[in-house]
Amino acid sequence: MQSTNMKVLGKHYRTIWINEENEEVITIIDQRHLPHRFITEDLHTVSEMVHAIKDMHVRGAGLIGAAAGYGMYLATIESRHKNSLEHILASADALKATRPTAVNLEWAVNKQLDAIAQGKTANEKIKIARKMAEHIAQEDAEYCRRIGTHGVAIIEEISKRKNGKVVNILTHCNAGWLAFVDYGSATAPIYEAFERGIDLHVWVDETRPRNQGASLTAWELMNQGIPHTVIVDNAGGHLMQHALVDMVITGADRVTVAGDAANKIGTYLKALAAHDNGIPFYVALPSSTFDWSIHDGLKDIHIEERNSDEVKYMYGLCDGEIKKVLITPLDSPAGNYGFDVTPARLISGLITERGICRASEEDITKMYAEKVKQI
Ligand code: MRU
Repeated sequence: MQSTNMKVLGKHYRTIWINEENEEVITIIDQRHLPHRFITEDLHTVSEMVHAIKDMHVRGAGLIGAAAGYGMYLATIESRHKNSLEHILASADALKATRPTAVNLEWAVNKQLDAIAQGKTANEKIKIARKMAEHIAQEDAEYCRRIGTHGVAIIEEISKRKNGKVVNILTHCNAGWLAFVDYGSATAPIYEAFERGIDLHVWVDETRPRNQGASLTAWELMNQGIPHTVIVDNAGGHLMQHALVDMVITGADRVTVAGDAANKIGTYLKALAAHDNGIPFYVALPSSTFDWSIHDGLKDIHIEERNSDEVKYMYGLCDGEIKKVLITPLDSPAGNYGFDVTPARLISGLITERGICRASEEDITKMYAEKVKQI
């Protein structure tokens, strides 16, 4: 499936890679400039990686996990000259502290810490960390590809039921390839269905305040040639009431063993509207997004609060330049909650790299028995 990888102007890109000219440098697509400019950025140090994650040059649960993996590789390189273990542990803490909600980040750092501990010399540690960083990135891409092959069945089924008429899918935020290393989670079944010739159309929530839908998902879909329409965040309920949405697929940043899913702020309201209108609501995620240690999403998931300027100001293209404009009274306070939790009862199913299951402890633990046993 998906013989065609994700493309920018016809060329295949991943979101993060080891620089071809200098293997001690990590290159990323700097997402802050999209959709208006396609700019890559070279990161040379752990602190540059920390800044890139915090400031959302890279973002999205899978990608910040991969970025943290590469960050730990940079930490081992820096440790060649510094007091080795101390710097590696301090780097791990700094990377983990960048963004609190997506579990992929701490998952990747912990994987690296376990792996690096096996290396005896500084050079061995570097080699191991590089291999592990590449493994985390490769697995992320492969798991998203598999999410596509499983999730496409849902879209195919709806298409059949509608006698081939257009399938309308609503998505929130960006859970596309830009949020991972390749393919994306929520978008992978969409890309696969499109490749199989299914007539589909995607409603793209703009996703205030950072506009990941309007800026990133729309740009991705446009590059893949997939019919889509950007809508304001508040339009979904209206579209659902008028039978203009056949299904919702979102990504997730942390999912509990019982199936509660934290995702970009506003996801919960979409799930409520979908439930009220009898529309299937799916969450797509690789297993790195499960938090095997928690059950109650509302109680146990730390919701990131970001700078209020992200709500008060917007960026956009104006006369060929990117400009920042204030949209509130200068002195009005603003709240900026990054994520919300959709309770398992509102989720029709989870689309994972192993297949589709109900958002219930019973089904999740059946599908991932070995992970649950490890806790
Ligand atoms: O704040 P972001 O852009 O890093 O948010 C993460 C997301 O992209 C979404 O919540 C997404 O749906 C999760 S899937 C990676």
